[in-house]
Amino acid sequence: MNHHKKEIEKANTFVEKKLNELEARSFQPVYHFTAPVGWLNDPNGLIQHQGTYHLFYQFHPYSEDWGPMHWGHATSKDLVNWDHQPVALAPSEDYDKGKPDEGYGCFSGSAVVKDDRLILIFTGHIDSKQPKEVQCIATTEDGTRFEKSPANPVISQPPESLSSDFRDPKVWFHEGLWYMVVGTSEAGRGGAALFKSEDLMGWSYCGLVAQSDGKLGDMWECPDLFPIQEKHALIVSPMNMNDGKNIILVGDMNYEQHHFVKDYFVEVDEGFDFYAAQTFLDEKGRRILIAWMDQWGTDFPTKKEGWAGAMTIPREITLNEKGEVRFLPVEELQFIRNEHERHSDVVVSNDFTPDMKGQSLEIKATFDLSNSNSDAFGIHVLKSEDGEEYTEIKYCTDTGEVMVDLNKAGKVSGVAIANIQKREELSLHIYIDRCSVEVFINDGEKVITNRVYPDSKSDRVEVFADQPTNLNQFNIWKLDKS
Ligand code: FRU
Repeated sequence: MNHHKKEIEKANTFVEKKLNELEARSFQPVYHFTAPVGWLNDPNGLIQHQGTYHLFYQFHPYSEDWGPMHWGHATSKDLVNWDHQPVALAPSEDYDKGKPDEGYGCFSGSAVVKDDRLILIFTGHIDSKQPKEVQCIATTEDGTRFEKSPANPVISQPPESLSSDFRDPKVWFHEGLWYMVVGTSEAGRGGAALFKSEDLMGWSYCGLVAQSDGKLGDMWECPDLFPIQEKHALIVSPMNMNDGKNIILVGDMNYEQHHFVKDYFVEVDEGFDFYAAQTFLDEKGRRILIAWMDQWGTDFPTKKEGWAGAMTIPREITLNEKGEVRFLPVEELQFIRNEHERHSDVVVSNDFTPDMKGQSLEIKATFDLSNSNSDAFGIHVLKSEDGEEYTEIKYCTDTGEVMVDLNKAGKVSGVAIANIQKREELSLHIYIDRCSVEVFINDGEKVITNRVYPDSKSDRVEVFADQPTNLNQFNIWKLDKS
């Protein structure tokens, strides 16, 4: 048996054994994707092939900490119900398996379909090696068992001017050629290196397709370049950028000059727990984005339960008529709506409490801004009976900011803030799932995503306002997959 097969079998056997021993996970979300056991970070290889959605991810099956990187794999027919599949990639070769005490593995990458077969493109990483990062491919006959190409690495070193940080290939097909962007750094500034190929095996370097102007980070992880309506967008996860953690640059791509020019950039999400976003085009023509719903350097209270890491809900990304980027939950999430409670035209003076309680909920609320005298109003979710614990989603009339205050939310702290355009109405579309709160503001103008770790009994919802405020619409659903 070859090395890779052996390592895959070892990992699958371990996962299975661990699943049998596993104790209940108190923080397990209901409709967010998590690994069966162990550690998860970036989404990888997002693709739809023959109707089936594939989600691969950075996976360390052997513990709840980051470690030698494998690619976990799951499939879905509807982007909400995911079936775990065997581990797709495991470190096994001299380009992705290092010594026990160093960082190594099959780092982030993407997937394409060629001749109706799935192909994975990933970074082989070994801390102590020179170069430490190279690009590799893996193929499959059946969509679940993957073999690394004997031709690996297909890009065996970074072009001379680039740093040795050279990872996270995203590949796509355009007018007869394959293109790849790789996250890197040149002269201390983050950049995305562009390559092209006729066959996915031989690649030629076309230069940096885009680069930080000095303010957008010193290394770009997980680049993703794609058309969006008449424009192009480049998503990157910059390292060491002030006030930025995962940005989308909207602009134009010139394939002749191998150059992307940005018009503007914004954060993909204003919350603290959001990184390594990747997109794919599905068979309905939607551009769908999924990100790791966590961030490096944060605590993971779920580690006590033997797991860490979750994905955001899938979001559809579009440009509105003004060319501004919008993020909306995919419509499939409506399939898991259960019990429903609805109110309209409620004047909230002080507070208003719906009957429904829960830790896995969807809330859609619209507030009238035209005649509110409130300085602040909003919604408390995941609130305890004694009122001591809650996550606060608040609109400040003065500043026109939406704030998600985590200071009483449980095991986390901080206030995440999104500035929004002034309108007659404020709409909040909120997804709560045991240990996460995702807030979509004004039809996807801004999104704020955070992890919170409340008590399992903190299940109340409450609308509050410091002066009478008109709640135009209020809808709340229990979300449940069963
Ligand atoms: C981003 C990242 C990638 C890398 C992977 C390793 O979160 O640092 O650049 O490929 O995680 O797990």
